[in-house]
Amino acid sequence: MDGTRDTGFPDGASVEALGSPLARRAEVHGSLPSTQERARELARAGAGHGTAVLARVQTGGRGRLGRYWASPPGGLWMSLVLRPGLAPGAAHRITPAAAVAGAKALWELGVEARIKWPNDLLVGGRKVCGILAETVAAGGEGLCAVLGIGLNANLDPEQTGSAAATTLRRELGRDVDLLQLLGLLLGCLEVELGRVGGEFRAVLEDWRALECTLGRRVRVRRLGGVLEGTAVDLGPEGALLVRTSSGTVEVFEGEVERLQGEFL
Ligand code: BTN
Repeated sequence: MDGTRDTGFPDGASVEALGSPLARRAEVHGSLPSTQERARELARAGAGHGTAVLARVQTGGRGRLGRYWASPPGGLWMSLVLRPGLAPGAAHRITPAAAVAGAKALWELGVEARIKWPNDLLVGGRKVCGILAETVAAGGEGLCAVLGIGLNANLDPEQTGSAAATTLRRELGRDVDLLQLLGLLLGCLEVELGRVGGEFRAVLEDWRALECTLGRRVRVRRLGGVLEGTAVDLGPEGALLVRTSSGTVEVFEGEVERLQGEFL
């Protein structure tokens, strides 16, 4: 038994056998509307920290801002239930920590990924991985969140339905072992999520070393309107600081577009 079904997709036992505290219990589906929805359901029903949901295919994969996330076979589509023992107010720290973890995992694989604020991993300016961290009102005390990660692994860019996407297959010129990739990613996530409490400054330092947003002229579309300026730094909680003609604005949510050229 090599830990995979004939589809090349890991089964639940092989995911649990990785020994990650983030995937002590793993639900693996051939097809699901969305691992995010399933993990939210499990969290609301009381699932503990370390519950992982994976699907070989998602038929209704969900991205940020209500967007559709194409999820054909070959990708790593996963959502984790997290109860990290932190106050609910620390929820916004999960996204930068997960972005740093994802980028580090990809560098270990030989892929030079860069973080575009707040949560995209790009290679050569094209998106290879998306991150969706959401809080869940799950009763009890402390933060409960579902962290969704969509990694375009063994697929062709055309299968993502986005002209601005890339895949590990395209970047590496070969397919990767999804179970190994998952093990690598879970290891990096364990380290970075472990720093979200007391060592968050160190997470942000690593974020700065891996990013491709700062120092650039950007346009930010957010709920309150559109903002243009220069992305100058991160605030102490991971907000993007944008210097505009009327002062520096702390941006907590939104879609960042680079003015002049691409994110590289
Ligand atoms: C984004 O960049 O917009 C975030 C994309 C997140 C996609 C992942 S795939 C696994 C999980 N299930 C979902 O429906 N969405 C997330």
